[in-house]
Amino acid sequence: MATRIPRALTIAGLDSGGGAGITADLKTFHAMGVYGMVALTAVTAQNTLGVRAVQEIDPSIVEAQINAVVEDIGVDAAKTGMLSSSPIMNAVAHAVKRWGFPLVVDPVMYAKSGDPLMRPEAMETLKRVIIPLAKVVTPNAPEAEHLSGVKIKNLDDAREAARRIAEELHPEIVIVKGGHIGGPESVDLVYFRDTGEFRELRAPRINTRNTHGTGCSFSAAITAGLAKGMDAWDAIRQAKELITMAIQYSLPLGHGHGPVNPMSWIEVRAYRYDTLNDLNTALSPIIGKVHELVDPQDNGGIAVALPQPYMASPSGIITVTWRGIEMGLPINSVRHGNGGKLVKYGLGAFTKQLGLRALAVVSGLSNVTAKAKVKLSTYEYEGIGDETTQISNALDNAIKALGKVPEAIHVKSLNDLVILGKSVASVVDKVNLLLS
Ligand SMILES: Nc1ncnc2c1ncn2[C@@H]1O[C@H](COP(=O)(O)OP(=O)(O)OP(=O)(O)O)[C@@H](O)[C@H]1O
Ligand SMILES: [Mg+2]
Repeated sequence: MATRIPRALTIAGLDSGGGAGITADLKTFHAMGVYGMVALTAVTAQNTLGVRAVQEIDPSIVEAQINAVVEDIGVDAAKTGMLSSSPIMNAVAHAVKRWGFPLVVDPVMYAKSGDPLMRPEAMETLKRVIIPLAKVVTPNAPEAEHLSGVKIKNLDDAREAARRIAEELHPEIVIVKGGHIGGPESVDLVYFRDTGEFRELRAPRINTRNTHGTGCSFSAAITAGLAKGMDAWDAIRQAKELITMAIQYSLPLGHGHGPVNPMSWIEVRAYRYDTLNDLNTALSPIIGKVHELVDPQDNGGIAVALPQPYMASPSGIITVTWRGIEMGLPINSVRHGNGGKLVKYGLGAFTKQLGLRALAVVSGLSNVTAKAKVKLSTYEYEGIGDETTQISNALDNAIKALGKVPEAIHVKSLNDLVILGKSVASVVDKVNLLLS
């Protein structure tokens, strides 16, 4: 049997800013290994600050797009996003009933900026025609208030709203999302109409303004799971993991709510793989030789960062100790960030936008530092604080004093020599100079 390629369709609007709508949906589908297709419902002139103009697509063209992709390519699951008018909703409902694919409805009413994306006249059609077709409906708290008439201030209110939406409008599963409900966690409430069961999805609330497109990516991720044939609850749980990661690595772009980053789901893994390969190649010339440079007890080693925006968190920094390099350690025993000194130096150096992506730390040996002063441009730094603060301040001072980024910094109070580079290969070249 040929391996089936899962196929998902988004029936939604275009956000010219790329953060929400069909671009968010397509990124999410592809990040999850699902082929994505589009039936465009509207063009919005939009950025991270707001919606400037909207052009609706003719309802017959919306329906024609759905028919065109189903008849040829096939659709395993679909989602709706922005459906701004009753005629568009009726056209979509007609096609969904005709083809019968599982449908996730994100009942979009407003953009993150607060600008309306649905005409008031369409509210009744959303309730009576679209939501009854949904396997899963994903209102945020304000949308759930409109759909249920329940004012939502806490989880109990969300529970009541979810139950009412399920009973009155008849979707199979209702998720009242927690992005707009305060608290240290962002809790989504899931209600199963058939069994009357409630389940909660919890994740720590990430402190960022850059949440443009969260709802789109979340509903697209559920759709992708359904397209792959996953059970609805498994698809929903995985979507929560994806959206939490996409918010953690959201992008500081524009002057308003920057976009979430659903590609992080796959990019982090791909960059880790590449970075580990680079490490393996770069380290091979010094394997077995590092005892000439460092004490076996030395707790230093090499740290490499994943590209932006992943390098700003400990999990975006990969470290390997001198002992590990000496032993020619297999690549899969390299550690992803922890609280150790290598990560602390990395967090201070890599996020300064100087193009630095790798560093080596040699501790305590004055003869190595003396050698570094001869062979590398080395800046002596006398400061206080932890590794992150010191390397950051040392770089500022060095650039002022030397007019460039030095090749190495001697952090005197911690007795560490930190060798800096744009790549792991360039750092290993410098380490090699000190070995010879
Ligand atoms: N700051 C945050 N930290 C963690 N999770 C969040 C945060 N904000 C939103 N979420 C999660 O993101 C998902 C989308 O929820 P949200 O309530 O933001 O949707 P939305 O308002 O429809 O988004 P959009 O404005 O993009 O349409 C939910 O799983 C929610 O819990
Ligand atoms: Mg939304």
